[in-house]
Amino acid sequence: MKIGIIGGSGLYNIEGLTDVEEITLETPFGKPSDAYIHGKLAGKDVYFLPRHGRGHIYLPSEVPYRANIYGFKMLGVDAIISVSAVGSMKEEIKPGDFVIVTQYFDRTKSRPSTFFGNGIVAHIPFDKPTCELLNEIVYKACIEEGIPVHREGTYICIEGPQFSTKAESKIYRSWGVDVIGMTNIPEAKLAREAEIPYSAVALATDYDVWKEGEEVNVEKVLATMAKNIENAKRMLKRVIETLKPEDIENSYARTALVGAIQTKKEYI
Ligand code: ADE
Repeated sequence: MKIGIIGGSGLYNIEGLTDVEEITLETPFGKPSDAYIHGKLAGKDVYFLPRHGRGHIYLPSEVPYRANIYGFKMLGVDAIISVSAVGSMKEEIKPGDFVIVTQYFDRTKSRPSTFFGNGIVAHIPFDKPTCELLNEIVYKACIEEGIPVHREGTYICIEGPQFSTKAESKIYRSWGVDVIGMTNIPEAKLAREAEIPYSAVALATDYDVWKEGEEVNVEKVLATMAKNIENAKRMLKRVIETLKPEDIENSYARTALVGAIQTKKEYI
């Protein structure tokens, strides 16, 4: 079984891999963020990619999301687990808590977000944007590791790179979202187009700016990430150890393109 892991701010490697090698790929959508770190863990093939590149060189809007997901497809991964830092939009989601993302609200403005176009039209279903079966495995891994976790949550994805104004943050909160981040869209959309089951784990690092007396800055995000990075690594290790091919065999994602391509065959 092949498992892809995308690491966000503060997560630049995973521990316990053996037979480690770097795989550099070129895709029709350009170069991925970095080389994929391939290694073995619990008999599985693990491919790790730091979303922002080593050294954190890509802005959220600059991350080559299409190349990253295309690369995972070339490598033949059966599932992707994405980890990212987020702000909490609810009092009960405390810094350090994990949230399994089950819905998105897309506020991005300028990112290529499809593999289609240029003569091929497709519309994939995205009503359930992350893989429920994979989410369950990730949730269980968090519980077994004693990590504070919320079973579901809506992630609002902003363009960034600036954090939100207080007015924006309060309005987003009134929309009922749970967490705020800058990177899961278009990543989740592209994983679905690539028919790869995708689960997103959001690590709350701050209360954004809606809360009186709270502020958000890079230092705060990284400090909270650093405190919780061991939890993220233990969660990933347990997911890799426990995930079985049959767990995600019936994933909704795996047939996302069935009936989705609208362009007539003879025109492709
Ligand atoms: N990533 C971490 N904290 C964030 C916040 N408050 N807003 C957007 N992205 C974030």
